[in-house]
This record gives sequence, C-alpha cells and structure tokens, in this order.
Amino acid sequence: MSDTDDFPRRAFLKGSLALAAGALLPTTAWASTMNPTPRRPVIIDTDPGQDDAIAILFALGASDRLDVRALTAVAGNVPLDLTERNARIIRDWAGRTTTLPVYAGCPRPLVRELVTAANVHGKTGLEGVTLHEPLAPLAPGHAVNYLIETLRAAAPHSVTICSLGPLTNLATALTEAPDIRDHLSEIVLMGGAFFERGNITPAAEFNVYVDPQAAQIVFSSGVPIVVLPRDVAVKAPITPARIAPFRTLGTRCGTVVADIMTAEVAYQKGRHGVEEAPMYDPTATGYLIDPTLFKGRQVNVEIETTGEWTLGETVVDWTGHSGRAPNALWINEVDADGFYAALRANIANLP
Ligand code: BDR
Ligand code: CA
Repeated sequence: MSDTDDFPRRAFLKGSLALAAGALLPTTAWASTMNPTPRRPVIIDTDPGQDDAIAILFALGASDRLDVRALTAVAGNVPLDLTERNARIIRDWAGRTTTLPVYAGCPRPLVRELVTAANVHGKTGLEGVTLHEPLAPLAPGHAVNYLIETLRAAAPHSVTICSLGPLTNLATALTEAPDIRDHLSEIVLMGGAFFERGNITPAAEFNVYVDPQAAQIVFSSGVPIVVLPRDVAVKAPITPARIAPFRTLGTRCGTVVADIMTAEVAYQKGRHGVEEAPMYDPTATGYLIDPTLFKGRQVNVEIETTGEWTLGETVVDWTGHSGRAPNALWINEVDADGFYAALRANIANLP
C-alpha cells in the first residue's frame, strides 16, 4: 500500500526531521570527474511550476541516490498560495503524502514586487494536468525557520539545497542565520544565463530576475554552488520524440510528466513556432542524480542588482579576466540523451 493510500490512518509528519550526515562532493573538480554519492540529504526549494514538478518527481524517483527531506515553497512562477499547494499535489502523485513535508516560505521577493510566469505555466502553475485537492496540509511553521532549524541540527557540510525558483527563502535563511552555511554541503540551483540570453528580459533568466538581491546574497555566501543555467537547458530540449517514452510508461507519474512536457512544447510552438522547449529545473535534480552527465567550469558569477536594462543578469567571468575568485561551478554541457534516459528510468520508479 502506498503512502497516499494509507494517508488517513497515519499521523501527518510534524516538525523538522533530523538530518543524517552525508559525504561531501568535491565542488572544485569538473563535474564529469565526480562520483555520485549515495543517499545525499537534499531539501528542494521550489516554485512549482511545470518544470519544477518534473524536477521534483525526478528526485523522488531516485531514492537510491537522493534522500529528499522536504519541499520548501517560494513565490515565483505563481503566487505562494499556489506554489505550496502544487508542491503538496506533486508529493501526492509520487505517493509521498505523509513522508515528505511541504513548508510554505516567502510570499514575495526581498526588495522587488513579485513578477510571476503564469503566462507560461498557466493560471494554476501546472498547466497541462488535471489537479486534485491536495491530500494533506502544509507542515507547520515557515520554510525559512525549517531551513534554519534543520540545518543547525545537521552535521557540518551535510545537507544539499536544490533550488528551482527565486532564491528568496534561502537568502533569508542565510541572512538571519549565517552559521547555517557550515552545515550546507552544496547549493545546486537552476538559474541564470550567460552563453544564452535571458528568457524574461534580454539580459536575465526568470529565477534570478525575480529576486536578484536574494541571488546576490546566495552567490556571495561562500557555500559551494553549482549552477544549471539556461545555457544547458537549451542543449537538452524537450521534443515530441523525447516525450513519447514517458507516455508509454502507462503510470500516473509517467503520464503527468508527458502531459506537462506536451503543454510546455505547445506553449513554445505557439510563441516561437518551434516544437521544442528548454529543459530547465530537471537539469538541477538530474545533476544531483548523475553529475557525470554534465560538464562545467569554476567561475566567478556576480549578479546585476541595479542595471536599468540588465537587472538580474548573471555576469560570468568565463575566462578569469576579472581576477575575482570563483564562487560557482557553471554548467554549460549536458549529455542530453543520457539525461532523458536517467529521467525516464527514475520516473519509472514512481506510481
Ligand atoms: C526557470 O523559471 C521558471 O519559470 C522555471 O520554473 C525555471 O525554474 C527558468 O528560467
Ligand atoms: Ca522553477
């Protein structure tokens, strides 16, 4: 019997979970030389979001590699009341209703007004799929408090944060409790654009543009960062041929993934006339599951927080010209076929 099936007979998981110590991944090496670490403790910070949903399911299907402890929701693609609700729906799809707490976090960026992407992801944020009423409530407490308390209770350098949305929750936690830095193993985030231009403005990618001040705090935190930018998203595009194997799984999650991808491709076709869509957030969970599929370079990344035309731009010193110290591993290559094979294999582990 799945977690979802026996939900009414179980007490809802309360409070934060004590996090087990996990091994470190060397972040100074090229990604392709790194070995995946089994059962990495991960907290996913997210604004679901169509691609967030696929990314979360990908991570939950990889329970041999990733120990996903919680989802923390933030405002982004749609307002917070929808992102936290969608996060609870996604865990239901994965059969994790009672074993994966969802915390609601910040309802708006640190400084700016919230800009959403409801035009892309639909009014609900999960265009393309039929949504049910979530089977269980939010976990009590604010996501930022959960992050602070959980990280403080964790072993040094043991927890990975996977960020799939604006960085508001994480920046707030790092500002309120700078000591949590020492408990983080790595921050693996989808955001930014360098070799590709922006997708919300000519200069900026959506997640960084929505809360550039938060991104600046995170990039200057000193925590090892891995960036899965737009540059890599466009190198693993979703196409009808890549969607078909998910539909043939014939499972609930396989169908959800196929339906969402179909809606993403339809949007791009309507807008740009091409039958393919960038693969965004799942590259971040994909990196955690199998970093050997990716390559990148240690670089300095600064965030434009004041530019009139360039707000939210990620300024990447690819050649080391500035002399500024590297603060992130910037991924710019992906084995796209290997990525889709890994995605399908892990979605196939779910109901
Ligand atoms: C990012 O923006 C959001 O719309 C997606 O969910 C993804 O996290 C891509 O720019
Ligand atoms: Ca997202």
